[in-house]
Amino acid sequence: MKAVVIYESLTGTTAKAGEMIAEELTRYGVEAVACSITEVNLPALSAAELVVVGSWTDGLVFAGQKPGRDWRLRKMPVIDGKLAAVYCTYAVKHGKTLPKLERIVRMRGGDTIGGYAIHRKKMEAGVTEFVGRILSALDKQTADAA
Ligand SMILES: Cc1cc2nc3c(=O)[nH]c(=O)nc-3n(C[C@H](O)[C@H](O)[C@H](O)COP(=O)(O)O)c2cc1C
Repeated sequence: MKAVVIYESLTGTTAKAGEMIAEELTRYGVEAVACSITEVNLPALSAAELVVVGSWTDGLVFAGQKPGRDWRLRKMPVIDGKLAAVYCTYAVKHGKTLPKLERIVRMRGGDTIGGYAIHRKKMEAGVTEFVGRILSALDKQTADAA
């Protein structure tokens, strides 16, 4: 399976997480590359069966959280028929960032299989957990389809 990780990042944390997610997926046999929402790797996206979309958390720290610069994400290329997973990075509280991001991805045609919030100071553990969940969801999909 091939995958692409598309991230929206203001100060680099979500980009770093995206690169780590792509590496971890590749380590487990899902050939993945990461790219910014401002420079989507279109050949990789067209070849991908799985699209991972990430954003940073924007809010008033304790309230009103949403995906950062969500207008960029709303304009991402259509991904009809592809599986999708979402993640956000955050500092204190992610609130409804993940369901909001999932909604955007579904509106672009993605078939969402889950999401995970990664604390910016616990990136390695967060990436390991998220990729583990993605791989389990993919296994379940394959088992259900058999
Ligand atoms: C304007 C602004 C608002 C933020 N609001 C929140 C928030 O409400 N809750 C939170 O946990 N983190 C918040 N953060 C922190 C970022 O979401 C967090 O540091 C993230 O990992 C940054 O990712 P990036 O480096 O990819 O931009 C905010 C950051 C900025 C710049």
